[in-house]
Amino acid sequence: MDGTFKDNDISHIVEADRAHVWHHLSQHKPYETTDPRIFVEGKGMRIWDQKGKEHIDAVAGGVWTVNVGYGRESIADVVREQLVKLNFFGGSAGSIPGAIFSEMLISKMPGMSRVYYCSSGSEANEKAFKMVRQIAVKRFGGKKHKILYRDRDYHGSTIACMGAGGQYERNAHYGPFPDGFVSVPHCLEYRKHEQAGAPDENYGVWAANEIEKVILREGPETIGALCLEPVTAGGGVITPPDGYWERIREICDQYEILLHIDEVVCGVGRTGTWFGYQHFGIKPDMVSMAKGVASGYAAISCLVTTETVFDMFKDDASDPLNYFRDISTFGGCTAGPAAAIENMKIIERENLLENTIAMGDYMLDQLNALSDKHAVIGQARGKGLFLGAELVEDRASKTPMSEKMVGAVVADCMQQGVIIGATNRSVPGKNNTLCFSPALIATKDDIDQIIGAVDGALGRVFG
Ligand SMILES: Cc1ncc(COP(=O)(O)O)c(C=O)c1O
Repeated sequence: MDGTFKDNDISHIVEADRAHVWHHLSQHKPYETTDPRIFVEGKGMRIWDQKGKEHIDAVAGGVWTVNVGYGRESIADVVREQLVKLNFFGGSAGSIPGAIFSEMLISKMPGMSRVYYCSSGSEANEKAFKMVRQIAVKRFGGKKHKILYRDRDYHGSTIACMGAGGQYERNAHYGPFPDGFVSVPHCLEYRKHEQAGAPDENYGVWAANEIEKVILREGPETIGALCLEPVTAGGGVITPPDGYWERIREICDQYEILLHIDEVVCGVGRTGTWFGYQHFGIKPDMVSMAKGVASGYAAISCLVTTETVFDMFKDDASDPLNYFRDISTFGGCTAGPAAAIENMKIIERENLLENTIAMGDYMLDQLNALSDKHAVIGQARGKGLFLGAELVEDRASKTPMSEKMVGAVVADCMQQGVIIGATNRSVPGKNNTLCFSPALIATKDDIDQIIGAVDGALGRVFG
């Protein structure tokens, strides 16, 4: 084996994979009798596996990542050029692509000012948590150190991120988690009948006020930050109800709580604005982002803060501990910002934000049309090209469809060469949402193909 893929050595690749690769989120027992799936090539919206089977990818690399589509030579070219010039230096020094991308990024985020580079979404969130803790020590005698997270949100796979994770099935068996993370209720209006006291009107403001109740219970003087996804991803593609975000910002201002928005999925175009929070006209204090920043062409994540947050780490230079004493080795890889610059240029050059809005509206309409035909769709929802269809046993009771049946729909689509996603092993008893996040280049024809496959799958699985 020399690492090059040739048609005639695929059996060696499959055997090497079966023998040595530990796949993410996977039970490996079935691979004792079936071949693991290996993808070998991608172009645009399409991807081919080891058997040469073509698939249309409706989930952008499985996990909402390849926003500009596969096979982008212009990104490969700029990354190559940068790597041969200078591949790496630790992040205590700057780099040319790092400086340029920070300027481009901040130009899309009015009110924000500083970019901290790292290499995964979990890591960017960890940086935010550390900043909150350090600010607590510096300004509040350590007291204002708690971090609020929301039921059904996810912030990453590390132990602290799981401590801040509201998907309790995902967290199971990995505790104990660190202290100081406190849950607040979710804002899924479709399931408000499960939340005591939820009103028929103004649910969004009510759901935000439920967070205020937690703040008052814990003591505002103990809460440093509120960490939320703009649109909850793996917890069920939850679009926030009207009035929610505006009230959240007011609450954070009132109690001097930093608002940390986790844009790891929504960031850089997924919902049709550069960032998900920009739909709601609010200003965060910290924003983490990862997946779509370079569409998976290089590993890069960023934690972006306001100048006010940044200033707290430089105001007293005589104190040897008064700066952010943190490093991310691979935050110094120049491939990340080099790829991110070209990724952003592609989104601008090809008007992909506009396409995302137009195609997102079209796809949501098509999902709604499917729900007229298939009673199993309880609700279709989402923003831009980030969409979900929650499946239920019956619409009146909204009893969630079992994860097994939802999985059968995903498997049927895969059989048809259409890759869709579903919430899985996340929220106990509520892993019942089909997920769609095609690349931002998707056309009507692509969407018709995806919807057609889902239509056929729902018909076959549920009759
Ligand atoms: C909202 C959100 N935050 C954070 C993460 C963690 O990102 P990573 O897997 O890059 O650590 C994810 C991953 O799916 C995510 O969906």
